[in-house]
Parts: sequence; C-alpha cells; structure tokens
Amino acid sequence: MQVDVLLGLQWGDEGKGKIVDVLSTDYDLIARFQGGPNAGHTLEFDGKKFVLNTIPSGIFFDHTMNLIGNGVVLDPISLIKELDMLKKAGHDLLKKGNLLISKKAHLILPSHLLLDAASEQNLDTNKIGSTLKGIGPVYMDKTGRKGLRVGDILLPDFKKRYQKLVTKHKAMLASFYQLEVNTIQNETAFFDAIEHLKHYPLVDSEHLVNQYLQEGKRVLAEGAQGSLLDIDFGSYPFVTSSNTTTAGACIGLGIAPNKIGEVIGIFKAYSTRVGGGPFPTELANETGEQIRQTGKEFGAVSGRSRRTGWIDLPALKYALMLNGVTQLVMTKADVLSGLDHIFACTHYRHHGKVIDYMPYELITQQATPILKKIDGWHQDISTVTDVSDIPLKLKAYINFLEKELQIPIKFLSVGPDRKQTLKLY
Ligand code: GTP
Repeated sequence: MQVDVLLGLQWGDEGKGKIVDVLSTDYDLIARFQGGPNAGHTLEFDGKKFVLNTIPSGIFFDHTMNLIGNGVVLDPISLIKELDMLKKAGHDLLKKGNLLISKKAHLILPSHLLLDAASEQNLDTNKIGSTLKGIGPVYMDKTGRKGLRVGDILLPDFKKRYQKLVTKHKAMLASFYQLEVNTIQNETAFFDAIEHLKHYPLVDSEHLVNQYLQEGKRVLAEGAQGSLLDIDFGSYPFVTSSNTTTAGACIGLGIAPNKIGEVIGIFKAYSTRVGGGPFPTELANETGEQIRQTGKEFGAVSGRSRRTGWIDLPALKYALMLNGVTQLVMTKADVLSGLDHIFACTHYRHHGKVIDYMPYELITQQATPILKKIDGWHQDISTVTDVSDIPLKLKAYINFLEKELQIPIKFLSVGPDRKQTLKLY
C-alpha cells in the first residue's frame, strides 16, 4: 500500500481539516506530518464545530487511528487543552484509544513562546506574522540539535534536560532581546501536561506507519499550513518553519518517496493569506472585504483577518509542481456566489516581461497580476447536493481551472459542513 497525502496549495486555511474529515472513512490511519498548534483545522458536522490544532482530523470516526507524526512540534499544554475540549464534547480519545504520538515529535516549551514573542517584537517592520505559538524557536532547537522530544519525557533526567534548554533560552532572551526572565510562566502547567501525556501511546511512529502499509492498510498524511508557506519554497522569510509540501510528509512520517500514492491538493476558489509577505492578487478594496466577510476569513488560531485576493494560477501551478498533485479539491466556491464577475490571475507582469512563474524577486519587487475576467454565478450553491444542479457559470470556472491546471477537480466544497461536499468524479 501507499500513503496518500493531503495538503494545502495556497497560503493555508484552504479547508484541509474539513476535507480530511470527509475522506477519513476511506483510511485506517490519519497522520499529521508537520507544523504544530499554529494549525487550526475546522470541522463541522451535525450542527457542531471543532477546531483542531495538533490532533489529526480523523478522530471522529471509530475505525480510524490517528497519529501525531515525528515532523510535528507539540505543545503539551495546548494538546491537553485540546484533548479536554474533545472529552467535554463526548470524544474521549484516551478511552477510544485512537490517538498515537510519535516519540520523535519535538516539544514546545513555555520558553519557546517567549522567544517567539521577543523575536517578532524585535522586527520593526516586515513582521513575519508569527502565530506566537513557539513554532519557529522549537524548529530552531530541532535543527540546532538542542531540542527535547516526546520520547525524552520517559527518561529519568527529563527535568534536568528541560532546565538545560531553558537556561539557554533565558540567556538568549537576555543577550539578544535584553529581557531578564527569572521565572517562566506556565512551567507547572507544562509538567502537569507532560504527566498527562504519558497516558497516551508514545510510539516509534516510522515503524508503525510502515507496518500499516505492509499490512495493506490505508494511510492519509495530513498537512497543515500551505505549500506557499513552505520553509524552502515559500516567499521566505514570510513562511512557516517546516516543509509543508509532499516531501515534508516523507520526512515528517518516515516514509520513503516511492511509498507516496495519491497527492490531494486543496485550494480555495480564491486566495487568502495571513500575515506579511507578497500576495500578487490581493484585493485591498470593497470586493476583497466582501470576500473576507462572506468567507469568514478570520484566523481559526489567531483571529486575525486574512488578506483576500483572486485565484493565482502561476502560484497554484508552482504548488502542483512541488507536490506532484494528482487530484484537486476546490473549497469555498459558495463564497463567490453573487459576484457578477470573478478574476483569475494567469500570468504576472514583472520587470516589463510577462511571466507565468513566481519570481525569486517577488519579495522585494511586486509582480503585477494579469487577470482573466470570468462570469460569476448568482445562485446560492451552499444547498446543492447534486452535481447536475451546479450553476453553468461555476461549471465553466471549474472547466477553465482544470484545463489550466491539467488535473481533475475531484471534490467541490460548497460550505463548511461535512455534508456540503460534492464528488465531481
Ligand atoms: P490550516 O492548517 O490552519 O491552514 O487550516 P485548514 O486548511 O484546515 O483551514 P481552516 O479550517 O483554518 O479554514 C477553513 C475555514 O473555512 C473553516 O472555518 C472551515 O469551516 C471553512 N470551510 C471549509 N470549506 C468551506 C467551504 O467550502 N465553504 C465555506 N463557506 N467555508 C468552508
């Protein structure tokens, strides 16, 4: 068996959580492979809404196992809060036994949050737009070979190792940011959460995932953030701290590249971006505001309002290339209902030239989008359940995108609820 990968093709918030939930019934294991509680995967069903930050989106189905993979960075306090929220809502994952945690996932310490805040505050202009969850600093410790991992909590000298790392963090806060920190807030909550974590199965996840495949079981790797925020290929430095692309699933779960099966790319019918960084199709006008309000484009984690813009085909094609996408899912088409016209960026004008790729210089020099005008549709599509009821103008938009992207759009999402999903093929 092979691992299917599901990831976002834009700047995150494409609706991955909802689609993983929809597809979960087809899989035996759902595995998060990167990022941390900076993700906010929103799921809605039976009139209930859940926002999952670290826990994979397959937990609501009894037969599906869920794994927090080695590529994830885990904040014990935040994870325990998430587990408590689910327990209160009737989903006790400890009792259900459907959550596994990789021993190789790195731990976010309270002091990582302090470093994150200090680093972001220190930037006068061009703030990265960090979610301030400690993600950047913990990945720095990981690559700096100083980090603490989930498996370490079982070691007798865990507290000593913790103190050593915190001492380093305090020194960094003092020397780089002139912040004298004597007591770290939330330390007690951190150690309480660590004790709680010990009740969950802490596993050698790379062996487990490969074992699943050997036994012919189906595995879905769940991405967070989006391809255009990838640490290597996104608009650096306005990126997240991990590899959000398909290759990140190999590293973040311990699966060989030849074990990758379908790659399911999720994109919105338009574009959004949170925080700083280039955004060629941005609509800083009334239409942009209308899309923001209709699409409720406010961060699930930070509450920040998202920047909005038209669909960007050069950016999407870049994401398809990086990921080897084999199937597409388009979400939030319902948000565009009622607009007389919509637009799609097919090329950029950059340095007097027409180009169809994202140039390296995009960070410092804006590229002007070349837009194609497309007829909008006026019908409310949020209640459409039959493919034959999709408005003709929306069908034309779908056909146009499929022709441009050369990959079939397999699912169309027309609302946040699990049921508001149409299978096109
Ligand atoms: P990140 O990993 O944080 O990028 O999350 P995500 O890709 O799972 O997206 P997120 O849940 O943050 O944002 C998507 C939002 O759109 C959520 O509030 C969803 O409930 C909602 N949503 C998903 N699909 C649709 C859709 O087709 N139409 C509408 N109107 N809302 C949708």
